[in-house]
Amino acid sequence: MSSEEVRVAIIGASGYTGGELLRLLLVHPRVKVTYVTSREWAGKPVTLVHPNLKGFTTLTFSQFSWDKVGEKADAVFLALPHKVSLEYVPKLLEMGLQVIDLSADFRLKDPEQYKYWYGYEHPHPDLLKKAVYGLPELHYDELKGAKLIASPGCNATATILAAAPLVSLGFLESYNLISDVKVGSSEGGMKPREGSHHPERENTIRPYEADGHRHAAEAEQELSLVAKRDVKVSLVPHAVSSIRGAFASVHGWLSTSVDEMELWKKTVEFYKGRKFIRIIRGGLHPLPDSKFVIGSNFADVGFAIESRLKRVTMFSAIDNLMKGASGQAVQAFNVSRGWPEDEGLKIPPLRPA
Ligand SMILES: NC(=O)c1ccc[n+]([C@@H]2O[C@H](COP(=O)([O-])OP(=O)(O)OC[C@H]3O[C@@H](n4cnc5c(N)ncnc54)[C@H](OP(=O)(O)O)[C@@H]3O)[C@@H](O)[C@H]2O)c1
Repeated sequence: MSSEEVRVAIIGASGYTGGELLRLLLVHPRVKVTYVTSREWAGKPVTLVHPNLKGFTTLTFSQFSWDKVGEKADAVFLALPHKVSLEYVPKLLEMGLQVIDLSADFRLKDPEQYKYWYGYEHPHPDLLKKAVYGLPELHYDELKGAKLIASPGCNATATILAAAPLVSLGFLESYNLISDVKVGSSEGGMKPREGSHHPERENTIRPYEADGHRHAAEAEQELSLVAKRDVKVSLVPHAVSSIRGAFASVHGWLSTSVDEMELWKKTVEFYKGRKFIRIIRGGLHPLPDSKFVIGSNFADVGFAIESRLKRVTMFSAIDNLMKGASGQAVQAFNVSRGWPEDEGLKIPPLRPA
């Protein structure tokens, strides 16, 4: 192992985001994956659960142990369900380990929001203050040296990246936005449930949690920061019959007639220097399309204006397991370490996907 390499553990490595973290980190030039856990598959080879990784690793899953994680890792990625991360994060930080948490447990700054959206009293409000929301496009500088990174949700990432540039400009009539998100089945994790089981999920377009989806809380938090005013988001996800991909159409109304070209320029300026944002405009495919980001960490963003109604729809397409989860977590980790943000992530999307 070179002195530059950081030793990484993945807790909950048998799931979809854990598998995707492995796919990225096993070939990351500055990382050595040293410890991967699963309760169900402890003692079994990683490639039994993730056969796509055959030839890339001889690691086996372990049962989690505080001693082992302390001995083997410098940084820990948690790919665990909500509320489970709460049991791990405080002690890992006390042990001096860096933590990148993919769950929602540390994403929201205001503890009251956990009561409303998640139905529990957050036990570590002090850590909510310390956690950095792991969206490098908005928090690049804060991520440098961050000890606790709260990696954003996929529907939230798509919504925020679509709306942030125009929300920042102050041309909207109302800051009550509607985000309509279409998302693939891998969002539900590896264990089939009634709603995510393949026969139930295939050939459908089905809204869910239409009375208020939890990711709206993140989108409101982040877009309010960008807009420097209170932004409300009504986010309705729809299950569609693809495996990967999240696509947000965020609807707003313009307060005034605007020069569309000026808005494009400002959008380009807003994301200047950010390596994973591609502004989509014109050509054969004039709007973002999830098909052209699958397998990559890109977010393709754009917008359309219906002048007759002064309506603007802001779009973003991501791969939910990449820019919506594991890719973004690695990107934020890179930034936290002072490495190029695209280290280990220079992967073109699949075509056809
Ligand atoms: N899927 C997505 O598109 C996506 C996007 C953004 C964020 N996320 C978030 O990322 C996290 C992981 O999601 P996922 O889709 O990878 O889920 P998943 O496929 O269900 O994997 C969950 C992992 O956690 C482990 N686990 C489950 N319950 C546990 C417990 N009580 N204690 C310890 N380990 C436990 C499981 O392994 P064992 O049961 O073998 O221990 C498995 O490795 C979630 O918080 C999710 O909301 C997911």
